Amino acid sequence: MPTGKTVNILGISALYHDSAATLIRDGNIACAVQEERFTRKKHDRQMPTHAVEYCLKEGLLKGEDLDYVVFYEKPLLKFDRILETYFAYAPKGFRQFLMAIPLWLKQKLHIPRELDKALGGGFRGKFIFTEHHESHAASAFFPSPFSEAAIVTLDGVGEWTTASVGIGRGNKIELLYELHFPHSLGLLYSAFTYFTGFKVNSGEYKLMGLAPYGRPVYADLIMDKLLDLKEDGSFRLNMDYFTYCYTDVMVGRKFEQLFGGPRRKPESPITQREMDIAASIQKVTEEIMLRIVHFAHEKTGMKNLVLAGGVALNCVGNGRILRESPFENLWIQPAAGDAGGALGAALFVHYQLLNNPRNVDEQNDMQSASYLGPVYSNHDIRQYLDSVGACYHFFEQEDSLLQQIVTCLEQGKVIGWFQGKMEFGPRALGSRSIIGDARNEQMQSRMNLKIKFRESFRPFAPSVLREQASEYFKLPPDKESPYMLLVAPVRESKRTKLNSEQEKLSGIDRLKVKRSVVPGITHVDYSARIQTVDAKRHGRYYRLLQKFRQKTGCPLVINTSFNIRGEPIVCSPQNAFHCFQSTNMDVLVLENFVLYKNEQPQMKQIEIDSYLAQFELD
Ligand SMILES: [Fe+2]
Repeated sequence: MPTGKTVNILGISALYHDSAATLIRDGNIACAVQEERFTRKKHDRQMPTHAVEYCLKEGLLKGEDLDYVVFYEKPLLKFDRILETYFAYAPKGFRQFLMAIPLWLKQKLHIPRELDKALGGGFRGKFIFTEHHESHAASAFFPSPFSEAAIVTLDGVGEWTTASVGIGRGNKIELLYELHFPHSLGLLYSAFTYFTGFKVNSGEYKLMGLAPYGRPVYADLIMDKLLDLKEDGSFRLNMDYFTYCYTDVMVGRKFEQLFGGPRRKPESPITQREMDIAASIQKVTEEIMLRIVHFAHEKTGMKNLVLAGGVALNCVGNGRILRESPFENLWIQPAAGDAGGALGAALFVHYQLLNNPRNVDEQNDMQSASYLGPVYSNHDIRQYLDSVGACYHFFEQEDSLLQQIVTCLEQGKVIGWFQGKMEFGPRALGSRSIIGDARNEQMQSRMNLKIKFRESFRPFAPSVLREQASEYFKLPPDKESPYMLLVAPVRESKRTKLNSEQEKLSGIDRLKVKRSVVPGITHVDYSARIQTVDAKRHGRYYRLLQKFRQKTGCPLVINTSFNIRGEPIVCSPQNAFHCFQSTNMDVLVLENFVLYKNEQPQMKQIEIDSYLAQFELD
């Protein structure tokens, strides 16, 4: 290994779900990005060649300048799990097995060769493989603002592990307890995602959003029949009801019988049954999360907790952990799913293997607002806009730019907001966001149906000035949620009194009622998935919110990801302009440029249709 120079570590996650690459330089996160943002294929699982190319370009590096390339899991161990599972269930699953094997033989068992290809063949450093849950755990602990913490990881499955409890101290992590496949909280949640007609590994978020419309009438049944849950949060699933070990669907007939009929067909109407099932599995999930977290506290005696793994994106569960667990402080990796594994794997090498010291700043995590992706200058943007004949207004001064956007927000306009570095992780955090006035009663349905082309039941989240967050939400004043990973209730003082008729409404009809002074972000159970926005992390986005508050008294806006249904969040000005032109968005802000829809060359319907058709419904 070369000495006396910057050590460059490239972290990779790929070939399962949400491929990503990240570059760590002397312990700093130089960049991190998901492959889907470049290929425009949501959750793209291919070897992340575009993300790698971006990381190298960002670091002004070639493949040969890298010291370590780290893959986020151990393929041989994972293959072992697949073989053992097959033999345990054989001859069931033979077709599945036959379908999986060619890809393993061709690609997944030859990761170094595949990585080398992605790097252009010049890499001379060392390949390292970390374990899947080690990568998640490292992604939770090392970037956190804690010098020591309990670690909990929860996801579908890696090699064998599906959940772990560990401890992080200084520059080391250690996993102490594990739960193994097929007993998995992530897969349990995904089974219900599948059963309610949503897409596995993608629609889990929708299931969580649907839960407040239902009543948890099946929770006891789930506890009774589907799992054997212990006091410490560990559990065994009753595999008679699940088929994911030997088919490519999650559940079979026995499961259907238990819940009174077949699964909802995707895209068919959602009934009270799905809402009640969503509420039930959400309740069970929260119970398991809380028990595991209590166990982690008991075993580690720590006051800080860090979380990662796909289940850590369950922000309703996270909100309960914050309010109800014995831990004083909580930090969650924003890219909690497998994309974040790339980051964890690279940090694991830097700290754990190379034994580099870790200097913790208790006031700041090292995730940099998760603004870790590509950025485009005003110069780049102007060039692009000129090339497509777009009509734009350039604001030299930020102040007048923000003034103008505040006016547009007040007028009820829906605004595409594109600023600075793109977010790493599934949430838009004010860099590639669509924003609107949350006080506007029409905003929720307009944004869902006319802008995002997605299901009407789906809630929107607020970005709120950190200083004012606890005025609107039951979030302790000393707590923050900069990564939109916590749900908290809207304060009673901000709620609207319902009349007796409104009280009686059930299911989707509850959507029609104005529930607070900020109806655009108040879910039917008065919850909100909050992003707190602060001056240090969020720069211009913070200043926009401040201006909006000065003018209107309201310290928050609706913030949803800049994309349509099934589309990865926009990355480039080109992606943003196409999305803007193909939807009913009113205004587009690209750095210092403002574009109004009514001034643009009109897109032909056929062009709009072909744009929308590119993205498979999620
Ligand atoms: Fe994972």
